[in-house]
Amino acid sequence: MSRQLFVTTALPYANGKFHIGHIMEYIQADIWVRFQRMQGNQVNFVGADDAHGAPIMIAAEKAGVTPQQFVANIAAGRKEYLDGFHISFDNWSSTDSPENHELARQIYRDLKANDLIDVKTIEQFFDPEKNMFLPDRYIKGTCPKCGTADQYGDNCENCGAVYAPTDLIKPYSALSGATPVLKSSEHFFFKLSDQRCVDFLQSWTQDGKLQPEVANKVKEWFSVRTNPDGSKSEGLGDWDISRDAPYFGIEIPDAPGKYFYVWLDAPVGYLASLKNLLEKRNENFDAYMAQEGLEQHHFIGKDIVTFHTLFWPAMLKFSGRKTPDKIHVHGFLTVNNGEKMSKSRGTGLDPLKYLSLGMNPEWLRYYLAAKLNAKNEDIDFNADDFMLRVNSDLVGKFVNIASRAAKFLPHGKLVASGEAPDMRSTDLLRLVADHFDQREYAKAMREVMTFADNVNSLFDAAAPWKLVKEGHVELAAEKSSEAIQRFRVMAACLKPVMPGVATAIEQFLQCDALNFTNAAIPLTVGHQVGDYQHLMQRVTPEQLDALFELPAAPEPEKLTPGGEELAPTISIDDFTKIDLRIAKIVNCETVEGSVKLLRLTLDVGEGKTRNVFSGIASAYKPEDLIGKHTVMVANLAPRKMKFGISEGMVLAASHSDEKLQPGIYVLEPLPGAMPGMRVK
Ligand code: MSP
Ligand code: ZN
Repeated sequence: MSRQLFVTTALPYANGKFHIGHIMEYIQADIWVRFQRMQGNQVNFVGADDAHGAPIMIAAEKAGVTPQQFVANIAAGRKEYLDGFHISFDNWSSTDSPENHELARQIYRDLKANDLIDVKTIEQFFDPEKNMFLPDRYIKGTCPKCGTADQYGDNCENCGAVYAPTDLIKPYSALSGATPVLKSSEHFFFKLSDQRCVDFLQSWTQDGKLQPEVANKVKEWFSVRTNPDGSKSEGLGDWDISRDAPYFGIEIPDAPGKYFYVWLDAPVGYLASLKNLLEKRNENFDAYMAQEGLEQHHFIGKDIVTFHTLFWPAMLKFSGRKTPDKIHVHGFLTVNNGEKMSKSRGTGLDPLKYLSLGMNPEWLRYYLAAKLNAKNEDIDFNADDFMLRVNSDLVGKFVNIASRAAKFLPHGKLVASGEAPDMRSTDLLRLVADHFDQREYAKAMREVMTFADNVNSLFDAAAPWKLVKEGHVELAAEKSSEAIQRFRVMAACLKPVMPGVATAIEQFLQCDALNFTNAAIPLTVGHQVGDYQHLMQRVTPEQLDALFELPAAPEPEKLTPGGEELAPTISIDDFTKIDLRIAKIVNCETVEGSVKLLRLTLDVGEGKTRNVFSGIASAYKPEDLIGKHTVMVANLAPRKMKFGISEGMVLAASHSDEKLQPGIYVLEPLPGAMPGMRVK
């Protein structure tokens, strides 16, 4: 009987590109999905961008675009990664989609009708300049314990103290710098402390839907307990699900200016993406969800367990919906020995750089598969280990079997089935399938590689190249046929991990699309295989060096003072050609018909005044300048302008790009300089 599976991965925040941690999660889920499809199960595998929340709103504002435009830009970049790493999502949507707005609001209404929504007034820090309530991470101040300045609103990076933002000394808004004020506001709460929720969750989290280590951790959240620092934890508390405008999110029904907290509508996005997919296919979402036996599987990382094991199942249950069947929690991926992954920088392993270097995405898929198990342990990407596993396991042990054996088949025809009592292909297929279903990929990969070792040993022992020399062409063909048949079985086992390589192998073997059932039946004796073509390259150390090489330091920017290059060198004679004199501004007025110019009347000690036009009207009012001294070019040829003759030029400083550094500054000598004095 085929299973109906609805599978998701966590919805990534749409405030940045994918990093290698995201890709790992997608590869883990994709392997499972491809395996299930090979088993003939029906899968809908969906993802979406998590579009809402304060950080995205703020990032968009900084970028000078609307939040919608901001997330659309991020969304536009997703396909390159997903296609690049052979991730087979059926749909990719957004939590800002119409489906999600509608579903989230409906779920809320259903919870409210079920008397699980409460309204309480709470006090929070408010930024009086930005006119918004501040999330904890946007409040900074001095740590109340150790006195270190510029610490975040929830904990101190210096001494590790945990506190409320209101405990900070001299708190300030990280957005505006303003001192936040306490302000009260009505918030909506999901009554998780309601006995119905507690009873439901206590059983739901402990009946096999979670990995044992996850279930154990979750158990603690139900009990009143004493924390290591002596404080008491309460058990399940009510969950604050609202945020005040301005907020990028979904408006709460009948509550103007109130929005769902991003984590309320984010998991609803799973259903919304599925609904969006089914509607594109003209299928009915409600009917699909109501199917008996439908399994709902969520793949997530260990940092978001609370949301998926408490809030989400309770939201679904008490709004009268189907609850998840499994939450598959993975650990974190680190790179080259636990180097911490920074949210903004990711790690040294840039997924797009990996692809652009021509590195095979299926190397990474294989490498991760060889490390992943069903626990939520962290795993490390290690460059040397990666090269070893790919080159010696994958290429050396597996791919090579085909290239070594193919050349001894007479006219490419198989002459033996490869069935042997001690090399039971059916056993391998069954074991590996079981491991895949349980997400024990590392075990599956080990089984395949052990099998490959055996195939290679048998092949080496038979030494077909010697047999041929000795005239036993038939026997060489037989041993090679056995190796090829077994190679096909292994290819089926690796297909969820390496779909591209598997397809190439199916072409080479001229066989049906492989699965765990048909691979147990050997190709018939006499079956014609195609010409062997190279199936996979080795990783080179150069590729890995390039992958982890820091981007070339940008050329040190040539300093261009004031935004322009220095003029070519001149001699002192050149300079003395310019006669600079101190001038007193005896009068100054605006010029009718010009917004740029001021008319200056200058005394240069000549017994008469000069008339000079200067483009400084944007910087000075006439009364600012009257009576001041300045410097003028006194021997500049008089110039006829639209408004009269200009008899010289006053000196003023400005940046070449006014947008970069605005302002025009008229030169003024230190006190004591008299009109007519030469400047040299
Ligand atoms: N938007 C939320 C999830 C909402 S689900 C309804 C979120 N987004 S995230 O972009 O921060 O993380 C998305 C997924 O990537 C999470 O499952 C998270 O655990 C996973 N990972 C983030 N960094 C990771 C690693 N370094 N390694 C493996 N997975 C990691 O949380
Ligand atoms: Zn501190």
